[in-house]
Amino acid sequence: MTPPAALPALEVRGLVKHYPGVKALDGVDLVVKQHEVLGLAGENGAGKSTLLKALVGLVRPDAGEIYVRGERVRLRSVVEAAGHGIGMVFQEQSLVPNLTAAENIVLGSEGRGVRGGLYRWDMMRELAQEQLDKIGSHIDPLARTDTLTFAERQMVEIAKVLRIEQRSQHAPVIILDEPTSVLESKEIETLFTQIRRLREFASVVFVSHRLDEVLEVCDRVSVLRGGRSVGEVSTAGAAPAELHRMMIGSTGSEDHYHGNAYPRREEPLAPMLRVRGLSGKTFRDVDLDVRAGEIVGIVGVHGSGREDVCRALFGAEPLAAGEVTLAGEDLDLSSTRAACAAGIGYVPAERKTEGMVGPMSVADNMTLTKQKARCSGPLVVPRKQASLVDTWIERLSIRTPHRGTAIQRLSGGNQQKVVLARWLVAGDIRLLLLDHPTRGLDVGARSEVYRLMRELAANGVATVLLADSLEEAIGMSDRIVVMSDGRATAEVACPAGGKPTPLELVKEMV
Ligand SMILES: Nc1ncnc2c1ncn2[C@@H]1O[C@H](COP(=O)(O)OP(=O)(O)OP(=O)(O)O)[C@@H](O)[C@H]1O
Ligand SMILES: [Mg+2]
Repeated sequence: MTPPAALPALEVRGLVKHYPGVKALDGVDLVVKQHEVLGLAGENGAGKSTLLKALVGLVRPDAGEIYVRGERVRLRSVVEAAGHGIGMVFQEQSLVPNLTAAENIVLGSEGRGVRGGLYRWDMMRELAQEQLDKIGSHIDPLARTDTLTFAERQMVEIAKVLRIEQRSQHAPVIILDEPTSVLESKEIETLFTQIRRLREFASVVFVSHRLDEVLEVCDRVSVLRGGRSVGEVSTAGAAPAELHRMMIGSTGSEDHYHGNAYPRREEPLAPMLRVRGLSGKTFRDVDLDVRAGEIVGIVGVHGSGREDVCRALFGAEPLAAGEVTLAGEDLDLSSTRAACAAGIGYVPAERKTEGMVGPMSVADNMTLTKQKARCSGPLVVPRKQASLVDTWIERLSIRTPHRGTAIQRLSGGNQQKVVLARWLVAGDIRLLLLDHPTRGLDVGARSEVYRLMRELAANGVATVLLADSLEEAIGMSDRIVVMSDGRATAEVACPAGGKPTPLELVKEMV
C-alpha cells in the first residue's frame, strides 16, 4: 500500500468541460502534491479558472475524475469542497460590499462568532483579526468592505479562505486564482511570505500571468494550452521565456514581457495635458504635464493617490481645486460624459465593476463609448462596426465563440481585452488614462497592448500609465512621476537609451 504521505493532495484525470461553442477543458490531468506550491500557467482562455472552479464544486465537469488523497470524490458545491479541505480565492472578487471585513471573513463559517443565530461582534472581530494577522494585514476588521481598495479586499479574500484550516481534518488545498494582479510589490511580498508559510501545513495552487512571479513562489508549474495539459516545469533554474514557450507552443521574446522592445518617437509634440494644483479627497497640489505622443508613468505605493488622480482626470472623482487644460482648452471634469466628449479615454483597473456590462455582447461592450458619444438609440451593431469588432477580436486574440457572445462568458483576461479594445475602437482619443491595462493579460496579449500604446502615442495621443510593475513602468514610459501620500514628489526621466533601474526608481519612492 502507498503510504498516505506519498499520496497526492489532489489529482485530476481526464477532466472535460464543454460550454456552448467552446471546449474549455479537453481532458486535463493535474497532480497537486502534499506541501507543494503548484503553479498553473496558460494563456487567456486556456481553461485555468474552469479547472480550478471544478475543484471547488462550482463547475460540474462533463467527464473525468477528481481524487483527494487517493480517494475519488464528487464535488457538487463549495461546501462539499471545503469539507474535503479545498478552498479558493476567485479571480473575480466575491466579497459582499456592504458588510464589514470581519463579517466577510467569518461569513458562512461563523462557528464561535455566532450564538443562537446572533452575531457576537466581539468574537467575530477577534476571529477576523486572527485571520488578518496570519497574512500580516493591518486592515481594520470593522471597516466596510466597499470602503477598502481592491488590494485590501484581495487581502480580506485571502484571510477568509484561510479559515478552511479549521474546517477540515486534513491538510487543506488553497487555490489562488490571480491573487496578485492588483497588489503592489510590498503586498505581493507579504502574500508570498504567507504562501511559503502555508506550504508547511497545506498545498497551494497559484495562478498568475506574471511568469517571473510564478517561478519565484512555486515549486513546480503545470502548463495548460487550449484546455489540455501540455507539460510541467520544475521551477528551479527555469526562465520565464521557457514557460512562455510551453504556453503558446512556440518561441517568445522576454523583452516583450516588460515592454522594452517597442520603438518610440524621438521628440514628443506639443503639450497636451496640463494639470496645476489638482486637489481632491486623496491627493493634493498635483502638477502634471503630458505631451502629445508621450507616455508618462505614475508610480507610487499603495495609498499614493495615483489611481484617484486618474479617476479625477476622467471626471469620476470630485475635485477640490485645480486647473486642467487639454490642448490649451479648459477641461470640464464635472462628469465622465464631459471627459469622454473632450476625447479622454479611461481603462479602469476594476474592469469587472466599472468597465463592462456583463450580460451584453462582446460587440456591444466594445462599442459602448462610440455609441454613447453619438447618443444613438438602441445598442445595435451596424455592419461596419461588426467588422471593426472582428478586427479587434483578432488583433488582441480575444477568445470568444462570436462577437455576439455575452462578455460574462469569457475568461477573465479576455474580458479585459474587450474593455481595453473599447478605447482603441473609439479612435478619437487625445488623452488615454490607463490604470493597470495589462493586468490579467497573458504575455502575448500584453505585448500586443504595448505595441498599441506605442502606436497610439505615435499618432499623438498623450498617455498616463499606472503600470502593473516597476519594470513595465520603466519599459513603457518616456517619463515617470513618483507619487507619495497624495503628492507628486519626484520626476524621473526615462528615455529609450537611459532607463533607470527598478532600484533607482524605488529610491525616489521612499
Ligand atoms: N460560464 C461560461 N460560459 C461559456 N463559456 C465559458 C464560461 N466560462 C468559461 N468559458 C470559456 O471557457 C474557456 C476557458 O476559460 P477560463 O476562464 O477557464 O480561462 P482562463 O485560463 O482562466 O483564462 P484567463 O487567464 O483569461 O483568466 C474560455 O474560452 C471561456 O470563454
Ligand atoms: Mg481565469
